[in-house]
Amino acid sequence: MSETKNIEALITTDARTTLLEAKKLSHNFDYELFENINLILEKQQSIAIIGMSGSGKSTLLNILSSLLEPKNGEITFENNDIYKIKKKKLLNIRRKDFGIIFQAHYLFRGFSANDNLEIATLLSGNEIDKNLLKKLNIDFVINQGVGELSGGQQQRLSIARVLTKKPKIIFADEPTGNLDKDTAQIVLDALHDYIRENDAGMILVTHENDLAMQCDKVYRLTNLQLEEIK
Ligand SMILES: Nc1ncnc2c1ncn2[C@@H]1O[C@H](COP(=O)(O)OP(=O)(O)O)[C@@H](O)[C@H]1O
Ligand SMILES: [Mg+2]
Repeated sequence: MSETKNIEALITTDARTTLLEAKKLSHNFDYELFENINLILEKQQSIAIIGMSGSGKSTLLNILSSLLEPKNGEITFENNDIYKIKKKKLLNIRRKDFGIIFQAHYLFRGFSANDNLEIATLLSGNEIDKNLLKKLNIDFVINQGVGELSGGQQQRLSIARVLTKKPKIIFADEPTGNLDKDTAQIVLDALHDYIRENDAGMILVTHENDLAMQCDKVYRLTNLQLEEIK
């Protein structure tokens, strides 16, 4: 191998450890949000994105998680450019490999907590993880109707439902937004445990700096760029 080839091999991302790679992402709505952003997520890695309200964090997360095509740039997951592959393949990735946790959770209201988890097991063929429910402190409400749960319990249930399908990447937009400090920490610990135990990765958008700093890497979205904080 020539010298240049060797160097190329070194700087090319390692397919064994890379989960997601974003290259030169740019996006705008009324104003420019970001320009030429690059990001790599590795297995077992957590990345936090912080930044002022309106800076474009949610937009960036939507783009990374396959929900919004960027104006420019590409995103690769397992050698697939997610905005170039066939719709069916993308739906499959979204269903199986991507675990998307929104600020607003979409639980089936007329059903019990357990029914909501059963749906995830049916779609994925996995079992409900009783340990996870204990960890999230919702194991004792599992037979109650969704409507009877507190907002915080519903939020944790929706997180449990996402994790039940065993995604390779968790995309979480302010997942602890409505939770008190202690409960937020419990949820974050559960997410960190999950990615370690399942060789998964996480991209977390949060405005809580102390939670962000517990991630392996932290970026601030500012001046159209991701500024590396940690
Ligand atoms: N679908 C959309 N259509 C038009 N403008 C949008 C849309 N989504 C977000 N925006 C605008 O983009 C900017 C960034 O929004 P957002 O990504 O939600 O920021 P953050 O999550 O950092 O608060 C805001 O000005 C918002 O109004
Ligand atoms: Mg947001």
